Amino acid sequence: MERSKLHSSANETLLSKKELMIGGLSASWLAEKYGTPLIVYDEEKIRNQIHDYKQAFHEVQADFRLAYACKAFCSTYMCQIAQEEGLWLDVVSGGELFTALKSGFQPNHILMHGNNKTKEELEFAVTSQIGLIVVDNFHEIEVLGEILNRTGQSIDIMIRVSPGVDVHTHDFISTGQQDSKFGFDLYSGQVEEAIIAIKKYHRMRLMGIHAHIGSQIFDAEGFGVAAKRMADLSKKIERELDVMTHILNLGGGLGIRYTSEDTPMPLETLVEEVVLAARKAYESDGLSLPLIMLEPGRSIVAEAGTTIYRVGSRKEIPGLRTYVAVDGGMTDNPRLALYGAKYEAVIANKMNANKEELVSIAGKACESGDMLIWDIELPKAEPGDLLAVFCTGAYNYSMASNYNRIPRPAVVFVREGQSKLVLRRETYDDLLHLEMNTDFSSFS
Ligand code: LLP
Repeated sequence: MERSKLHSSANETLLSKKELMIGGLSASWLAEKYGTPLIVYDEEKIRNQIHDYKQAFHEVQADFRLAYACKAFCSTYMCQIAQEEGLWLDVVSGGELFTALKSGFQPNHILMHGNNKTKEELEFAVTSQIGLIVVDNFHEIEVLGEILNRTGQSIDIMIRVSPGVDVHTHDFISTGQQDSKFGFDLYSGQVEEAIIAIKKYHRMRLMGIHAHIGSQIFDAEGFGVAAKRMADLSKKIERELDVMTHILNLGGGLGIRYTSEDTPMPLETLVEEVVLAARKAYESDGLSLPLIMLEPGRSIVAEAGTTIYRVGSRKEIPGLRTYVAVDGGMTDNPRLALYGAKYEAVIANKMNANKEELVSIAGKACESGDMLIWDIELPKAEPGDLLAVFCTGAYNYSMASNYNRIPRPAVVFVREGQSKLVLRRETYDDLLHLEMNTDFSSFS
């Protein structure tokens, strides 16, 4: 970690009034040192969220396990933070598993999801001896069974259930409804059929059931309904198929506040809702609550992330709109283009200037849909200014692309006035990394 000379000086207080500070460092110092666009994570915020989740479980006196869903932001450093904080890791591909293992993450605390895990991915998971595979479909049971028989290894598994809970979020990130590509359908007997199929493979140890109802969810109700349905299912399969649920995994999904229009529940409410709903369902039959597992992604990292862009050109259409363009866009944040996501932003070097214009923030890609924010009031945005967009820590870098051959931004973590480069900026050479051959006569 490097300390900014600027901020060890007495200027700090003065500067912090004019400038956006993140983790004790000014946005302009960070931009100068690492370039823009730059994704900056305030590490303390990540650790605080994890702490609050744990605390919430202690409050309701439930045995719990938390897995960080690393699809939200996956890098070796982030995996190391998760490990240091005692979390499990939820991975959804061979690539995420590879990253986790390279970070030194202990394999037996990794669980793997995916609706179409390939044979190679399953084999990778089995031979790495990861902690849990969440089995999604009948094909996977067969493929996994064959791998276990061939390698002679055993593995703990869970069954992913689609619990038929419709939640109010964007259609593309809602997963628990009956019409979903994920998991075994709760209502047509598929779960029971899956258990019968799994029982044929004595090397699969069925530890419990899993449901994830969606992402960026604001009301507690859907979580409570899912928890009750899953608890009821677990009692049913114990009665009818003699299968004990050791772990009840209720996925991730807690919404966060991107703008003042968002009114998410506190994480304590989520934890209380799922634990109380499940506990009630078990206790009504004189049973005790199994271990409750959650897989938060967004709520761990989203609010800790801020993207700093450099302002470039502008286009004023009289009486219609002013576009202010920045040096990134949908290539580092496709969430507006994909989900109509909304963000708040400031001009980081003009924190105490008055807001004086209504503008829209455009990216630099050759596509009209490449927008970051429609309509935001800001101080006058001039070329060279720094625009900081908040809450970009989840599903931004992980969904970034090289559209237009725009290199991916750098990612830096900050903590107590110190910074650490976690992912370096992509270079033009990186863009050519996969090119094999420029020789026209080499077809074979
Ligand atoms: N567990 C499972 C099985 C999941 O599918 C997901 C997210 C999570 C946990 C973590 O959910 P979270 O706590 O982050 O809501 N790209 C979209 C979000 C897709 C979420 C996919 N699954 C976005 O940018 O909003």
